[in-house]
Amino acid sequence: MSTKTTISVIKADIGSIAGHHRVHPDTILAASRVLAEAKRNGIIKSFYVTNAGDDLQLIMTHHRGVDDSEVHGVAWNAFKEATRVAKELGLYAAGQDLLSDAFSGNVRGMGPGVAEMEIVERPSEPIVVFMADKTEPGAFNLPLFRIFADPFNTAGLVIDPRLHNGFSFEILDVYEGKAVELNAPDEMYDILALIGTPGRYVIRRVYRRPDREIAAVVSIERLSLIAGRYVGKDDPVMIVRAQSGFPAVGEILEPFSFPHLVAGWMRGSHHGPLMPVGLRDSKVSRFDGPPRVIALGFQVKNGELIGPADLFDDPAFDETRRVAQMIADYLRRHGPFMPHRLGPEEMEYTTLPDVMKRLAQRFVQAEMGYKPIVRRSEELSGGHD
Ligand code: F6R
Ligand code: MG
Ligand code: MG
Repeated sequence: MSTKTTISVIKADIGSIAGHHRVHPDTILAASRVLAEAKRNGIIKSFYVTNAGDDLQLIMTHHRGVDDSEVHGVAWNAFKEATRVAKELGLYAAGQDLLSDAFSGNVRGMGPGVAEMEIVERPSEPIVVFMADKTEPGAFNLPLFRIFADPFNTAGLVIDPRLHNGFSFEILDVYEGKAVELNAPDEMYDILALIGTPGRYVIRRVYRRPDREIAAVVSIERLSLIAGRYVGKDDPVMIVRAQSGFPAVGEILEPFSFPHLVAGWMRGSHHGPLMPVGLRDSKVSRFDGPPRVIALGFQVKNGELIGPADLFDDPAFDETRRVAQMIADYLRRHGPFMPHRLGPEEMEYTTLPDVMKRLAQRFVQAEMGYKPIVRRSEELSGGHD
């Protein structure tokens, strides 16, 4: 057991009410009971259970470090218990994200999404936990870049000497299972060259230069890449540290005032605006969306979570939500056309290939007057060994 504190956010869609609309309160209760027991047994120090749309979210603190088998076991049991209740109630897609039955000490790779960081608590330790529904981990690429590398977003990068040396980004290629660390500001164009392809290159962690203090961590689980088929969208979570040497809470929330386009929404197959909402609006409706994100602020003190503050429950984000609705309207009018519908490489994991298979035998050779030269781009072939 260490004197450091670990924050673990572990989530899964274990079934929901009215299709994929929102988590049922009884499953939140079932998970809370398991976590309360783990707190009594001293495995975790404190917890908060909530939902992002149809995803059950376990926010926990403890002193056991990241990837701890006991803590992961608690989370797994909480999801199992919640699934039992979901099945009793006949909730939709009960147990959906629990892709395996055999728990062997770590939930990673088994379906749930995981973001964890171990820190030495500062005297006052504000954190923000972001939880999104109907989208993928790369949805946090744009806001993370703006928080930690864009001086037009984060004033502290310019005027606070503790931020002025910049931040390092650990970027994962989720197709190849490779990672690269790049530094901002010097390598920001290289960072952007990668993270502009958010389905493949995902910012996993951000560190402060030069002391390498962890600043942010994102869940990088992509369900379709684990299962090899479309199961549900990945619906990522992210933990960001704030204030005194890190970006201010307001700088961390600021990029979300732009409802940028993310992949997900209906059937995990459409681009839509990421709409920041308060807890009471943490549910999806229109076309199973639009994709939403909630932000809960906590103080971490002596391993305890103090909070939360429901940070997007604020009229300051009303205009963002209005713009998001306008974008949603505009995109919806494209129906099944790209770029509302995702591109072919992302559609590989949906049910579309089954439809296409039936058409394959109807295709016949056609005279075009030229022989097409088709190039596979670096983005598709992973040409960076
Ligand atoms: C997206 C999502 C939903 C479903 C859609 C169809 O992440 O969960 O949009 O893909 O409601 O669901 P099924 O195939 O279960 O009827
Ligand atoms: Mg669901
Ligand atoms: Mg979900």
